[in-house]
Amino acid sequence: MDERPIGMFDSGFGGLTVARALIDLAPAENLVYVGDTGRYPYGPRPLAEVREFAIEIARWLVEVHDVKLVVVACNTASAAALEDLQGLLAVPVLGVIEPGVKSMARATRNHRAGVIGTVGTISSGAYQRAVAELEDPPELHCAACPGFVEFVERGDTHSDQVAVLAERLLAPLREAGVDTLLLGCTHYPFLARTIGEVMGREVVLVSSADETAFEVRDMLDRLGCGRRPGQAGYHRFYSSGDVAWFQRVGSRLFGEEIGEVGSVVWSPHECPRREARGD
Ligand code: DGL
Repeated sequence: MDERPIGMFDSGFGGLTVARALIDLAPAENLVYVGDTGRYPYGPRPLAEVREFAIEIARWLVEVHDVKLVVVACNTASAAALEDLQGLLAVPVLGVIEPGVKSMARATRNHRAGVIGTVGTISSGAYQRAVAELEDPPELHCAACPGFVEFVERGDTHSDQVAVLAERLLAPLREAGVDTLLLGCTHYPFLARTIGEVMGREVVLVSSADETAFEVRDMLDRLGCGRRPGQAGYHRFYSSGDVAWFQRVGSRLFGEEIGEVGSVVWSPHECPRREARGD
C-alpha cells in the first residue's frame, strides 16, 4: 500500500479526460492534476520548449507533492519528453501515446486508421513510430488539427465555428476511408460529438484515456503500490493560469467535484515560486 498521490499533467483541460477515466477506474487513488493553462497551447511550440515545461511540472509533482507515479496526460508532452522524464525521475512515468495506439489497433477492422493531434505531436513522428512497432501495423493517416485545443480551452465544444473547422481539417481522413480515428490529443474527446458528426457514425473514435487508466492500474498492481480499495481518494487540481476560469470551465467539462483550484506559478529558471493552496 502506498498512500502517495498519482501526479498527472497537461497543458490545460485535456488531461481531465484521462483524470476522469482514472478516477472512475481507481477511485481510491489520490490524484494531483496540473493544467498548465498559463502556457497553453503546447501544440504550436517547439518540442524542446515543451520538454522543458514537462520536466519542470513533473519535478514539481515529485518534489512538492511526493507523487508515486507521473502520468503525462498530454500527447504533445509525451511526444516531446516521455523518454527524458523516464530517465530523470525516480518514479515511474506513463504517457498516452502507446495506450492510444493499442486501442486503435484493436478497433480497426479495415486496417486503415487515422490519428489526429496537435502540430507538435503529428510532426514529431511519435505516432508514426509507435504504429510502425506494432506486429501488424494498420495503414496510418495522420492529420494535425491546429485550433481544436483553443476551442476546448475557451469552453466551446459544439459551436458552428468548431464544426466548420472540423469539416476542413478532417476531410482528408474521410477521403482516406479510415474506419477508426484515434484522438491523439487529450483535449479532443471533448469535441467527440462534432468530430463524430463530421466523420460519420461508421467511424469508431478512440481516445487514449481509458487504456491509459488501465495501464496505470496495472502498473500499481504490478508494483504493489495501489491504495486499499473502498477508500475515497482526494483529487486536487492546479492551474498555472486563471484559476477561476479553470474552475468554471473545468467544472463544466469534468464535473463539480473539481472543487477549489490551486494556483501554481512557474519562474523562468527554477521550480514554482509559490503555491496559493498552501499544501
Ligand atoms: N492535450 C494536449 C495534447 O494531448 C494539448 C496540447 C496543446 O496544448 O496544444 O496534445
